[in-house]
Amino acid sequence: MRSIKLLLSGLVLAGAVAVHAATPDDAVNARKQNFKQIGGAAKAVGDTLKTPAPDLATIKKSAATIAGLAPKVPGWFPAGTGPDKVSVKTGAKAEIWSDNAGFKLAAANFAKAAGEFKVAADSGNLDAIKAKMGALGGTCKGCHEKYRNKDS
Ligand code: HEC
Repeated sequence: MRSIKLLLSGLVLAGAVAVHAATPDDAVNARKQNFKQIGGAAKAVGDTLKTPAPDLATIKKSAATIAGLAPKVPGWFPAGTGPDKVSVKTGAKAEIWSDNAGFKLAAANFAKAAGEFKVAADSGNLDAIKAKMGALGGTCKGCHEKYRNKDS
């Protein structure tokens, strides 16, 4: 039994943190962790692209992480997890729910850009990687500007 539990917890650690969480606060904490993973992967790509010899393995791994998580974003914002509903700190703006179609569109643009970035990463073509990384970064910014509170 113990080994099964350990195995299961290992599987959870390896993937996205489930946002079908027990409480709204748990859902916020889980999505923040998932975004941290996305942010860490994007930073790893940005950092290595600044070096004279970018590390393709880092880029591929990070692209896979981002492309794996991106399609899940809409599911991280169930109703009742907005800033007026939870007791933990959240950068999520109420507009995510009041303009849900716009938020879903921003998430879909992000998922598409993440998929294209992964294709570029897997190709190993640095020019394509840089172009698609730029496009991907634009979709982060596009969503954050509208739906995320900077100072939280
Ligand atoms: C569809 C909208 C959307 C997209 C696209 C998006 N984000 Fe975010 N991001 C958010 C929201 C909303 C929060 C605030 C979540 C909260 O605090 O509850 C957030 C939070 C974060 C955080 C803070 C996590 C923490 O520690 O609290 C980081 C880092 C981050 N995003 C990075 C990124 C990066 C990098 C990308 C693109 C590669 C990206 N995000 C794309 C909406 C988005």
